[in-house]
Amino acid sequence: MLDKLDALQQKASAALEALTDVAALEAWHAQYLSRRGELTQLLRSVGQLPPQERPVAGRRANELKAALEVAYEQRQADLKRQARAQALTAERVDVTLPGRPPSLGRLHLSTQALRRIYAIFADMGFQVYRAPDIETDELNFELLNMPPHHPAREMWDTFYTTREGVLLRTHTSPGQIRAMRDYCPEPIRVILPGMCYRYEQVTARSEMMFHQVEGLAVGKQITMTDLKGTMAEYARRMFGVDRQMRFRASYFPFTEPSVEVDMDCILCGGEGCRVCKYTGWLEVSGAGMVHPVVLYNGGYDPDVYSGFAFGMGVERPAMLIHGIDDIRSFFSNDLRFLEQFG
Ligand code: PHE
Repeated sequence: MLDKLDALQQKASAALEALTDVAALEAWHAQYLSRRGELTQLLRSVGQLPPQERPVAGRRANELKAALEVAYEQRQADLKRQARAQALTAERVDVTLPGRPPSLGRLHLSTQALRRIYAIFADMGFQVYRAPDIETDELNFELLNMPPHHPAREMWDTFYTTREGVLLRTHTSPGQIRAMRDYCPEPIRVILPGMCYRYEQVTARSEMMFHQVEGLAVGKQITMTDLKGTMAEYARRMFGVDRQMRFRASYFPFTEPSVEVDMDCILCGGEGCRVCKYTGWLEVSGAGMVHPVVLYNGGYDPDVYSGFAFGMGVERPAMLIHGIDDIRSFFSNDLRFLEQFG
């Protein structure tokens, strides 16, 4: 009996050592330790031994059973550890591979131009004041000195909404009234940037939506000279220190006097070329001294206060600076165009 147990121990240990996977381990357990296993059979046969041999054989068989159970559990733990190590190796990352470059976003060309404009006016003490794109007829026209049916309304072809008296602003000028009503009676120095909308044929030169930056200064001693200096400073910072300016008499219902601000052509320096239509000059901005009626509508006494205002495009100067010949490129969302800037 003891010999049989020794033989079994050797066979079982060798088999346990040799097996390499969980399925084989379970088969091993069934072969030796299950209810019909070889060791269990031997244990049962202890009862048939002569009584004086039973205690020794019984103890030996039980010890062997305990030893094999322990060996089984250890092997099971080993196999699990091996499987985990294999899984980790399979998932190994090659840290020497070159990375995939993340594709970076960039600011839209109009945003870049706007930010340059903000910076220039910030240096002259202008704060950014925000006004809504969707306006009332009252602010976009009436309070700017254009009552209903005023012929000057024809200067802007307007997108109306289905709601009576509500429209898409045709210029940033209604923000003047909003800023004045907000600041009154304090002095004002603000720019009002934003999108404007006009019901117009879209061409290479004009879009139905575009940005403007409005400027407004209101105070007790503001004169045309301040407007002129401000416009010249803007043009020189934006387009180069040699820029020459000129004011041309013009008309807007909300300024008096009104002017068109021009600078000498940045391409030909005033010689005359295709870009300036052989005039030597480029339009920078509409501007003027705030009309007394508009000051009054904003809450200021026109006998005490005066102010200047201007309204300039944003896409046009960007086109000049970058040599872009079609304004439609700005909002047609062609990445091949947009990715060239910034
Ligand atoms: N709002 C005018 C336009 O859109 C520009 C302007 C602004 C003119 C302020 C004078 C003063 O054409």
